[in-house]
Amino acid sequence: MLNFDFYAPTRIIFGKDTENEIGALLKPHAKKVLLHYGGGSIKKSGLYDRVTAALKASGIAFVELGGVKPNPRLSLAHEGIALCRKEEVDLILAVGGGSVIDSAKAIAMGVYYDGDVWDMYHDGRPIEKAVPVATILTIPAAGSESSGDTVITNEEKALKYGYGSPHLRPLLSIMNPELFFTLPKEQLGYGVADMMSHIFERYFTNTTNTDLTDGLCEATLKTLMKNALPAKENMSDYNAWAELGFAGTVAHNGLLGMGREQDWACHDMEHELSAIYDVPHGAGLAVVTPGWMQHVYKENVGMFVQFAVNVMGVEASFRDPDAIVQEGIRRLREFFVKLGLPATLSELGIGEDRLEEMAKKATKAAFGNERPLGGLKPLYWQDVLAIYNLVK
Ligand code: NZQ
Ligand code: ZN
Repeated sequence: MLNFDFYAPTRIIFGKDTENEIGALLKPHAKKVLLHYGGGSIKKSGLYDRVTAALKASGIAFVELGGVKPNPRLSLAHEGIALCRKEEVDLILAVGGGSVIDSAKAIAMGVYYDGDVWDMYHDGRPIEKAVPVATILTIPAAGSESSGDTVITNEEKALKYGYGSPHLRPLLSIMNPELFFTLPKEQLGYGVADMMSHIFERYFTNTTNTDLTDGLCEATLKTLMKNALPAKENMSDYNAWAELGFAGTVAHNGLLGMGREQDWACHDMEHELSAIYDVPHGAGLAVVTPGWMQHVYKENVGMFVQFAVNVMGVEASFRDPDAIVQEGIRRLREFFVKLGLPATLSELGIGEDRLEEMAKKATKAAFGNERPLGGLKPLYWQDVLAIYNLVK
């Protein structure tokens, strides 16, 4: 096990009707907030009315900025930064999914920075402070409600980059599984693929003596797999959504990666797809992940046998580890298909013409400073291209 420093201070308020507490929860922290949201689902569901009523009841003033798109855009963050400065808001309340929360975090750090907030994403420039962010989560997926990360698309440059800082961990996040009932079914699939990927990125490692986090990763993966299809069958199944929501936060608050080298190659490969083709993050991950497994598993067959047996329920046998791994990958693909997820790039509308360009951008070979992706097996642009080709 490696040394680590774990600090995940986000307060999680979980359960039915908890969004109505938002005014009382924010009262000690803010006089004026920016209410930030997406394309309108919160207005349709009535959540917007409940949240604004709770803020008013607690005497908290607010200004609002809606219109966050999935794969949130830098240009809207610029607008939010200007608005926060002009209105002197002291907290940003993000009501929505990962895109809204990530956009809120971009605004939160941009307010205190004189240059373009894109510099953080592009150069990894450290930050000293950010406006506090609180969230009301409406889709279990990105884990941004308890992570210090934000991912933004620079639409002019067709680049999608992530950035992380402890200053971006939300102050508090409300998670009421009832808010997930209105999700379109395909978003459920995207969310589950993303949450599983957040665990895979930490689980598949060459670090040894990681019994506790191995077990936590496996339990969280199995919880997601057990509850995903029941929620898809009955989109109002509170108990299934409760398990998915809690698992999604555990998947990405950092705990599962402590003491182990992490990977993140699948996320880097997926961000290229979203940046150019604007595909949903979870859909891209469902496509690249099995291809990645196929390409890298020989680097650490034992780890992939453990996954196949402990998570995918493949029968253990001692003579043919490759067959066990192949069955594990097959079952994962099958599970994704049952969730309605795509299995190939072509199903995402992605042809072969830009695969090499994306492989070179993902590894930065395109910019003359190639840095291999991944931890389990370093992936150069030729590896990334081979993976894209495996799943085309
Ligand atoms: O915009 P509205 O109208 O609200 O509709 C949204 C959006 O169209 C809809 N939706 C959300 N909750 C709903 C709902 N519709 C009906 N009822 C509800 N309760 O769902 C659509 C997708 O929303 P989005 O926020 O984009 O989804 P998600 O949470 O999957 O976020 C994806 C983004 O998060 C980033 C991804 O790259 C992607 O840009 N990630 C952020 C991470 C982080 N900050 O830690 C880590 C992840 O790896 C991920 O990269
Ligand atoms: Zn993700």
